[in-house]
Amino acid sequence: MIEITVELGERRYPIRIGEGLLRSQSLADFLTGSQALVVTNETVAPIYLPTILDNLSKSGVAADSLMLPDGERFKNLDTLNKIFDGLTEYRHNRTTTLIALGGGVIGDMTGFAAACYQRGVNFIQVPTTLLAQVDSSVGGKTAVNHKAGKNLIGAFYQPKAVIIDTETLKTLPDREYSAGMAEVIKYGLIADADFLSWLELNIEPLMKRDSHAIARAIAVSCEIKARVVAADETEQGVRAILNLGHTFGHAIEAFQQYKEWLHGEAVGAGMILAAELSMRMGNITEQDYLRAKTLIAAAGLPTEPPENISREDFLSLMGLDKKVLDGRLRLVLLESLGEAIVTSDFPIDKLESVLPA
Ligand code: NAD
Ligand code: GLY
Repeated sequence: MIEITVELGERRYPIRIGEGLLRSQSLADFLTGSQALVVTNETVAPIYLPTILDNLSKSGVAADSLMLPDGERFKNLDTLNKIFDGLTEYRHNRTTTLIALGGGVIGDMTGFAAACYQRGVNFIQVPTTLLAQVDSSVGGKTAVNHKAGKNLIGAFYQPKAVIIDTETLKTLPDREYSAGMAEVIKYGLIADADFLSWLELNIEPLMKRDSHAIARAIAVSCEIKARVVAADETEQGVRAILNLGHTFGHAIEAFQQYKEWLHGEAVGAGMILAAELSMRMGNITEQDYLRAKTLIAAAGLPTEPPENISREDFLSLMGLDKKVLDGRLRLVLLESLGEAIVTSDFPIDKLESVLPA
């Protein structure tokens, strides 16, 4: 087992990574009282809920569970209310612990429910998608969507622990796995050139889901995310580098009304656009740009934006992005391979030149 700590003073917490942790890691160690509610969905529950309930019952905890519908379209206030209904129906008090068992949708909703219920109760993240294991379960961003936009209603609220059982990735569909790899590659691009080289050398075993390779990739990703979050928990500055490719990616997702590409797929194509702009700004060489593109392609991700999105679509959708501060579009660009900056200092014609005609 590998352990990484998110250093947030009294709110510091461990991320534990290992094969079979759903069975072997005592979840009861992170409970604050005798009550617990496992929140999951109809896809994940049949595969992993019995194991987690068994884990808790071995420590004498008779946990309740709640199964939500599966999908981003259910990440809203109505579904959140179902969590509060469950908590009140089962008479959970302020010492209860919510356990999020699932991907980023379940993690974000359960975390936000924990932030709100009785003004804040304990919670544990048990992420089961690669994206959730390397990104959404770490760092305390919790939210639901509103019809006006994604993740508009939420809170920063840190878990007590993140328990990553790498075995859960064996049942993850290929597209979801590739989408998670986009975020893994992102960490190499923004913060660690050696990790990027390691990913290039190990992309084949990684895509075959070799357990040693994937444990290392998750561990390094979580180390980088933990470091960035510890430096800037509420995204006043450096945390924004975690959004490499996301402004372009969000434009793609919004253009498709969140119905076609997965988030990680849009981020994959978005990171290539960000790398191309970085190259045109003279920050990275053409060879660096091609390395990024080749790795993203090898992870099974799209390397071009969808055919039907135009430059005008991109510009208008990027203009609405929440990362626009004081009317100036801020982008995450590469300073070099392994180093990112957040800047609004780029010529608009260079931005236009990387977008489709
Ligand atoms: P997801 O939660 O929708 O999961 C993807 C699919 O995989 C779902 O159908 C799910 O039921 C299924 N699944 C989950 N684990 C499985 C397993 N082990 N085996 C088989 N199927 C499994 O999507 P996601 O990509 O995990 O998360 C996306 C969400 O995360 C978005 O809502 C996004 O806004 C959010 N997010 C949050 C942060 C953050 O910092 N909080 C960061 C990135 C993304
Ligand atoms: N996923 C970006 C962040 O956590 O800040």
